[in-house]
Amino acid sequence: MKEIYSARQIAGRVRELGEKITEDYRGRELLAVCILKGAFIFFADLVRCINTELKIDFVRLSSYGSHADSSGSILITRDIETDIRNKNILLVEDIVDTGLSLSYLSRYLQKKGASEVRICALVDKRERRKTSIRVNYPGFTLQKGFLVGYGLDIAEKYRNLPEICEVDPDKEIKAINQETPYDC
Ligand code: IMP
Ligand code: MG
Repeated sequence: MKEIYSARQIAGRVRELGEKITEDYRGRELLAVCILKGAFIFFADLVRCINTELKIDFVRLSSYGSHADSSGSILITRDIETDIRNKNILLVEDIVDTGLSLSYLSRYLQKKGASEVRICALVDKRERRKTSIRVNYPGFTLQKGFLVGYGLDIAEKYRNLPEICEVDPDKEIKAINQETPYDC
């Protein structure tokens, strides 16, 4: 496991993102929406760095596919509770990969009447992008690699690491499968 972004680097970048978002939304209503589960730590840190009035809500998405690939077939398993008509929404995501989840969710929120949907993602991973989605507030930009920690997981592992590390997803899945208890 190799460290890619230290806890200190992340904290510094989150502070910068918060300052930029504060400037951009000053005097405008803001609804910050956390995409569960991966963004939960980033979201909690980010909203504390935004110094303007805001409300929060949560959505949860599921994507059918293997542990390391999203299939593009996306399901909202926890919908937003706020009435979003005419609201300025800031979607807060852990990492953008193909962009399919965010592109689906932005379209969904726009159809429900949001007046604007912007995206803040801690990591903007470029290599496998399949949509033209724009990340308005990217934390870090990366070409490729599978990351865990600071909310990010592989098969639900490592979300509690304070830093972000790169792992080999195939090796991790193999190890996790070997750990599974079996009947004897
Ligand atoms: P997309 O629809 O392909 O952009 O998928 C984005 C989602 O896939 C993220 O919200 C994560 O849940 C997951 N994901 C993509 N890349 C990684 C990674 O490197 N580590 C952990 N999760 C990832
Ligand atoms: Mg996610």
